[in-house]
Amino acid sequence: MSGCCGPSGYDDLFGPGFSRHLARRYRKRGLDRTATRMVAFLVEQGIEGASVLEIGGGVGDVQIELLRRGAARTTNLELVDSYEADAAALAAEAGMADRVTRRRLDLATDPSAVEPHDLVVLHRVVCCYPDYQRLLGVAASHATRALVYSHPRANAVSRLLFGTQNLFFRLRRSGFRAFVHDPAAMTGAAESTGLRAAFRHRGAAWHVVGLTAPAAGAP
Ligand SMILES: C[S@@+](CC[C@H](N)C(=O)[O-])C[C@H]1O[C@@H](n2cnc3c(N)ncnc32)[C@H](O)[C@@H]1O
Repeated sequence: MSGCCGPSGYDDLFGPGFSRHLARRYRKRGLDRTATRMVAFLVEQGIEGASVLEIGGGVGDVQIELLRRGAARTTNLELVDSYEADAAALAAEAGMADRVTRRRLDLATDPSAVEPHDLVVLHRVVCCYPDYQRLLGVAASHATRALVYSHPRANAVSRLLFGTQNLFFRLRRSGFRAFVHDPAAMTGAAESTGLRAAFRHRGAAWHVVGLTAPAAGAP
């Protein structure tokens, strides 16, 4: 781990070019299918007036859609600042700029830096972080009502693909690595603070896991 913000190599991969790509794709096509499922899960939990914490939210497209559906405010945590211009433009276009807070912070290593929120989101993030147990455990401890995360399907094909990508990163002397973490162990980490898995979607490439807090008074 280095500096304030996680392992090295993130700036190389998630730079301004990647940010422009995400912003262009969102303007043209809206959310991707996996993110759409994640938003639907959170909407089912009831998001009117909710606070949303998104870890690794990129240009903030998921947050804009949650705000459109009734969330009150969002906080985005990122390891890099390359998304900021595109995120600000998208939030302004949606008329949501004053309801979005963006911080450069690794919550996994600085858990007390942010207060708990009603809903916590990690889309395509756990696979970019080595210590998934810590990241998901801290994310769960910040979710008072629900947590939803996506992760790559774990099979021989994804492991080969990620292994090849990591070889490429190594050859380029980038410190970044992508991970196919064990799905059951990820759920275990996310359940470590009392949330329980309530929703699973197993897509061809990406899986979604949604967890909820036990209802008040429930055993
Ligand atoms: C593949 S991108 C996904 C961006 C966005 N969620 C999307 O799906 O378009 C992964 C992002 O997660 C961020 N990230 C990884 N670990 C993080 C952490 N511990 N805290 C905050 N951001 C993190 C990286 O900086 C990167 O921008």
